[in-house]
Amino acid sequence: MDANKAVIVTGGHFGDEGKGKVISYLAGNDNPDVVARAGVGPNAGHTIYKDGKEYGLRMVPCGFGNRNSKLYIGAGVLVDPNCFLKEVAVTETEGRIFVDKRCAIIEDRHREQDSSNAYLKEKVGTTGSGCGPANAERANRTIKLAQDVPELGKFLADVPLEVNTALSKGKKVLIEASQGFGLSLFYGTYPYVTSKDTSASMAATDIGIGPTRVKDVIVVYKAYTTRVGAGPMQHFIDDKSIEEYPLWQDVLKEAKAKGLSGPVNDVLSRYLGERGTVTGRARRVGDFDYELAKYSAMVNGATQICITCLDKIFPECKSVKAYDKLSARAKDHIRTIAERTGVPVTLISTGPLPEDMIDLRSS
Ligand code: GTP
Ligand code: IMP
Ligand code: MG
Repeated sequence: MDANKAVIVTGGHFGDEGKGKVISYLAGNDNPDVVARAGVGPNAGHTIYKDGKEYGLRMVPCGFGNRNSKLYIGAGVLVDPNCFLKEVAVTETEGRIFVDKRCAIIEDRHREQDSSNAYLKEKVGTTGSGCGPANAERANRTIKLAQDVPELGKFLADVPLEVNTALSKGKKVLIEASQGFGLSLFYGTYPYVTSKDTSASMAATDIGIGPTRVKDVIVVYKAYTTRVGAGPMQHFIDDKSIEEYPLWQDVLKEAKAKGLSGPVNDVLSRYLGERGTVTGRARRVGDFDYELAKYSAMVNGATQICITCLDKIFPECKSVKAYDKLSARAKDHIRTIAERTGVPVTLISTGPLPEDMIDLRSS
């Protein structure tokens, strides 16, 4: 059998782009043999729906819904054992989910440090999940690894060996990253960033595959930009700047028709349902940041773009499954994103359910 190459799905703005939803669609549609989770750790919260149930997954790969897929958590990912074991129970994935033996372990003290350190909590606005202090300890080479935790014994694996062997046998491998490009420790809006790089190359390293084993990098953006936690954000919509954006004036009208009132950005955030999966904090809302999108597509080596939440700003597109059925203004938006980033938009998400997807990929 021919050797295969992996597909990486990563976030192109500030996280929460809907990667979880995209992965759950790809897992169902493409039937991957392997779904591997990359990224920082349980600071991520992917929201997905399966069989009418909502899951907010912080450790288990979002492709869990396909029972044929083996699930892995790569060595680069921080593991919170309690969170992991709870999610394994909820998703009923024991027996086909594995953790690299070298994953570093988040303990109570990391969470306490994250929440009690004013710089991290107030200035950076972290998720409080302990990831930053744990990665600092990892760099100090004092942190405990998964192989030292008895409760994780039955889940341990050599993830690079498993994934590279699967690829050599021609199996399909899907890698899900977390967070987003603007939160990268290297390339994001430092110091308002997370504790690791968040680009596609890092995701490959997290899992233990080389750059030559990657076929596609699908970079995910919402149809607009959101950001949770502190840090700069271009094209923030407020009471004044909304005058520059006819589209946002329309969205605001609809929000007000639903009885929402208050400062413009709060109203938009509530209307669009923008609340952090892990922390419940409101996400700020901005117009689509083309500059950041273009730059992140470049550094990620994007081969394809996926746009999510199109239905939230163009309600007439809700659950549409064919490109031709999208409204002219929505098609215009998609075309502009493709033109300004120089990367084809091949996946368009029109609702939170896995089946709310327009799939324009050629094969
Ligand atoms: P991180 O790994 O934390 O960055 O998260 P994520 O990229 O998986 O995104 P998250 O699930 O935190 O947030 C996306 C939100 O948008 C979730 O509530 C999804 O259910 C929802 N969502 C995703 N795609 C769509 C869509 O096309 N339409 C609508 N209406 N909601 C969507
Ligand atoms: P930390 O990763 O918890 O240290 O948080 C650092 C910054 O990254 C804060 O602004 C968080 O809000 C943000 N962040 C971390 N993970 C995510 C995520 O998965 N989605 C959105 N923002 C995140
Ligand atoms: Mg999230």
